[in-house]
Amino acid sequence: MARRTNTMRTLSIALLTASVAASAFAQKFSPENLGPSIPTPEPVVERMLALAHIKTADVVYDLGSGDGRIVIEAAQKYGARAVGVEVVPDLCRKAEARIKSLGLEERASIVEGSVFHVDLSPATVVTLYFMTTSNERLRPNLEKYLKPGTRVISNQFPIKGWKPVTVEHVKAGMDYTIYVYEIGREK
Ligand SMILES: C[S@@+](CC[C@H](N)C(=O)[O-])C[C@H]1O[C@@H](n2cnc3c(N)ncnc32)[C@H](O)[C@@H]1O
Repeated sequence: MARRTNTMRTLSIALLTASVAASAFAQKFSPENLGPSIPTPEPVVERMLALAHIKTADVVYDLGSGDGRIVIEAAQKYGARAVGVEVVPDLCRKAEARIKSLGLEERASIVEGSVFHVDLSPATVVTLYFMTTSNERLRPNLEKYLKPGTRVISNQFPIKGWKPVTVEHVKAGMDYTIYVYEIGREK
C-alpha cells in the first residue's frame, strides 16, 4: 500500500513538473511572444515620456510593461492614468507590488496578458520596446485601435511603414534611438 502511495506521489510530481515546463516552453516560444524582458534605462524612460508631452488627461499604455517602470513614471511624474500590458505573470506581480508601495493604484495598473488580445482604444499615448519585426506584427493592432492624435513612442526600434514625427538619440550606457509617431501623421 505504502509503495503504491509513493508511486502515485512520484507520478503526480512528474505530471506537475511536465505541465509547468510545458507552460514555460509555450510562453517562451509562443508566436505571440514579442521579445524578452530588457528594461529601458531610466534616462531613456525620461526622454520617451518627455517626448510624448503627457498631460494629466492622457492615458498611457506601455505594451510589454516589464517591471512597470514606464507605467509608474507616467503616473507618478505626469499624473496620467497608466496601464501596462505584460504577458509574464512574475513581472506583473513585481510591477503591481511597486505600484502599491508607491500608492499609485488609483492611476496605474497592469493587465496580465498578451498585447494581441487587449483593446488599446483608451490609449492616447503608447510606449513600446520591441524589435522591428515585433513592431511589424503589432502594427495592425495599433492601426485598428489607436485614435488620431495618439502618440506612439518606440524605444530603439522603428515601426516599419510609418514616418516618425521626431527621432531623438540618447546615450545611456549605449546609444538609444527614440522614435515618436503620431496617429494621423504616420503615413
Ligand atoms: C524589452 S521588454 C520592455 C519592458 C518595459 N516596457 C521597459 O521598457 O522597461 C519587453 C517586454 O514585453 C513582454 N512581452 C513580450 N511579448 C508580449 C506580449 N505578446 N504581450 C505582452 N507582453 C509581452 C516581455 O515579457 C517583456 O517584459
